[in-house]
Amino acid sequence: MAVRDDPDIETALKELQTIHPIDVVIETGTYLGTGSTRMLAEFFERNRSLRRFVTMEAHWSYWKTARSNLQRFPFVEPKWGLSVSKEKAIEFVRNDPAIREHHRYPDIFIDDVNDPVGFYTRELQGGRVAPNTFALKPALKELVKHALY
Ligand SMILES: C[S@@+](CC[C@H](N)C(=O)[O-])C[C@H]1O[C@@H](n2cnc3c(N)ncnc32)[C@H](O)[C@@H]1O
Repeated sequence: MAVRDDPDIETALKELQTIHPIDVVIETGTYLGTGSTRMLAEFFERNRSLRRFVTMEAHWSYWKTARSNLQRFPFVEPKWGLSVSKEKAIEFVRNDPAIREHHRYPDIFIDDVNDPVGFYTRELQGGRVAPNTFALKPALKELVKHALY
C-alpha cells in the first residue's frame, strides 16, 4: 500500500522543521517510490536544509521501479536493501501480534487478511535477495550519527 497525500503530514513536517530543522531523511520501505517517498521528496525539494535523503527497499523489482519513478528527484538516493538482517525481519513478521492476529487490530491497515505472514515474508524475500544488503548498515550508522549530532 502506498501512503496517500495528506495535508496533515505536511503541516506536521513544517511544525517539526521549526523545532528542529531536518537535514537527513532515512526512509525504510520505498515500495514503488510514488507514495511517501514522492510526498517527502516534494516537501524537501523546496527545503534547503536537507543534506541527504536515503530511502531503502528490500524487494528487488519494487526498488528498480522506484529508482525509475524517483529520477525526477536527483537528491533522493534509493537503495536496494534491508534496514535489518533478512532473518530478523522475517522473525518479526512471524511473531508480530498485529500481523499474526490482525483481526484483533481493526484500526491497523494490513495488506493481506488471508495469509499476512506469507505475504510480508514473500515481500521481504522479493526477487533477488541482496548480498549487499548488509553493506547498508555502516552507511546508515554514519548517517544517523550525523543526524543526531
Ligand atoms: C507498505 S510498503 C511501503 C509503502 C511506501 N512507503 C509508500 O508510501 O508507497 C512497505 C515496503 O517496505 C518494504 N520493507 C519492509 N521491511 C523492510 C526493511 N526492513 N527494509 C527495507 N524495506 C522493507 C517492503 O518490501 C514494502 O515494499
